[in-house]
Amino acid sequence: MNVELRRLELGDLDTVEEIEQASYPTPWSRSMFVAELRKPSSLALGAYAEAGELVGYAFVSRYVDAWHVMNVAVAAEYRRRGIATTLLERLFEVTASDPRSGYTLEVRVSNTQAIRLYERLGFEARGLRRGYYTDNHEDALIMWREPAVSAGAETA
Ligand SMILES: CC(C)(COP(=O)(O)OP(=O)(O)OC[C@H]1O[C@@H](n2cnc3c(N)ncnc32)[C@H](O)[C@@H]1OP(=O)(O)O)[C@@H](O)C(=O)NCCC(=O)NCCS
Repeated sequence: MNVELRRLELGDLDTVEEIEQASYPTPWSRSMFVAELRKPSSLALGAYAEAGELVGYAFVSRYVDAWHVMNVAVAAEYRRRGIATTLLERLFEVTASDPRSGYTLEVRVSNTQAIRLYERLGFEARGLRRGYYTDNHEDALIMWREPAVSAGAETA
């Protein structure tokens, strides 16, 4: 599905919060989104459908040795159309001028759909954070993507 990608702005946050609350058991608060948008080391992209409707978003933030994928979500009725893939691939392009930095993220071990998405984008499992999620003490899978991995790479 064709979507337009643009930097997220504060005016997008009502829709972001709707998608967020429908997507996560422990959604980010408004103040977390505002803080992330204001951080100079963060990048946030929105995906907009033809009518201009915001249908998904992705946040990455630069830490010492890597870009952290902080949050990715797509409105339920727009999933499985490549929108998360498009968002993350664009963020990899935008950050490619930083060739030594890899990408990392944490994902619930039960979130097989997101793990599959990340594997298709070249991320590999690198370990667990035990009991990382406070709502149900679920473990987090730590994933890592090398900077040179080409977008869309399949893993075995
Ligand atoms: C995970 C999420 C962001 C994926 O968004 P999306 O736009 O549907 O993802 P894409 O269409 O780019 O999917 C790419 C690939 O990921 C895998 N994938 C995505 N959703 C999947 C699902 N429900 N079941 C199985 N595989 C899935 C598939 O391999 C898919 O490719 P395919 O459709 O050609 O088979 C979306 O399901 C979501 O918002 N979930 C709730 C929030 C969340 O869990 N975010 C990640 C937290 S770490």
